[in-house]
Amino acid sequence: MPVPDAFVARSLDEIRFWSRIMKEHSLFLKLGFRCEDTQLIQEANYFYGVFEQIEQQAHAYPVNVDPQTIRAFNVQVQSAASHIWAFKRKVLGLILHCQLPGGNNFPLLVDHTSREANYFRNRLAELNEGRLDPLPDAIINENVFFLRIMADHAKFISHLLDPSERQLVDQARGFSYDFDQLLFQARDLESMRPQSHTVPLLDQFLDQNRVSVQSLRDFKRTARDLIEACRIKSIIHPLLADHTFREAERFLEIIDAFEGHLSLVQGASKEPREDEEQEGQGIQGVPGLQDHHH
Ligand SMILES: [Fe+2]
Ligand SMILES: [Fe+2]
Repeated sequence: MPVPDAFVARSLDEIRFWSRIMKEHSLFLKLGFRCEDTQLIQEANYFYGVFEQIEQQAHAYPVNVDPQTIRAFNVQVQSAASHIWAFKRKVLGLILHCQLPGGNNFPLLVDHTSREANYFRNRLAELNEGRLDPLPDAIINENVFFLRIMADHAKFISHLLDPSERQLVDQARGFSYDFDQLLFQARDLESMRPQSHTVPLLDQFLDQNRVSVQSLRDFKRTARDLIEACRIKSIIHPLLADHTFREAERFLEIIDAFEGHLSLVQGASKEPREDEEQEGQGIQGVPGLQDHHH
C-alpha cells in the first residue's frame, strides 16, 4: 500500500467536498429561478453537470496517482470554480438590479455561494503554488471565513422556515445573533495581528467557536431530519438542510485539525517568546494544513 502524497490527498479531499457543494448550488439556484428564465436554468444545469463530472473524477483517482496529474486536475477544477463564481455574480447583479422580479434566490444566498466558490478556487491555487500560511494566520482567516458562512446559514434557515414555526424561527435567529458576535470577535482578533498570535488566545478562540459550531451543527441535523420526515413547515429543500449541515461538519473538522496542530506547538515550546513573532518564526504553519482565502 503506497503512502498517499500529502498534496494529492489534500487536493482530492478539497475537490471531493467542494465539487459536490458546487453541484448542489447549481441545483438550488435553478430551483430559485422563474420558469421563464430558461437561459439561466440551462446555465445552472450546465454547471451541475460540470461539477458532477469533476466529483466523479475526484473519486475515481487511486491514492498513488501521479501528483502531476492532480496538479493539472486542480487547474481544470480551479477554472470551473472561477466560471461558476462568475455565473453567481452575474445572477447577483440581475437580482440587485431587479431584473428577476419574483425569483426565489435571496441576494445574500447567491453572494454566499459565490464566496464558497471563491474559497474553493483559492484553496486549489494555494495547493498548486505550495503557498503555506503560518498557522496563526490560517486559524484566524479560516474562522473569519467560516463563522460568516455559519451566520448566513442561520439567517437562511430562519427566513425559509414557515413563519408559523415560531420556536424554530427564534432558535435560528438566536444562532444568527451568536455567530454574528463570534464573527466580530474573530475580526477583532484579526485586527490585533500579529500581537494576537499567542497560543492561549488562539486556543481559547478555537474552543469557543467549536462549542457554538457544534450546537449549530446539531440544530441543522435536527432540522434536516424534521424536514425529511415532513414534520415541519418550510420551503427548505431537504438537500439544502443537509448541505448546510455538511458545511458545519467541515468547519468542525478544520477546527479540530487546528487544535491538534496547536497542541503540538504548545508541547514543543512551553513558552512562546514574544520576539519570535517579529521574525515570523512564532507558531509556524504546518505543511498540509495551510488555509487561506480572501
Ligand atoms: Fe454551500
Ligand atoms: Fe454555505
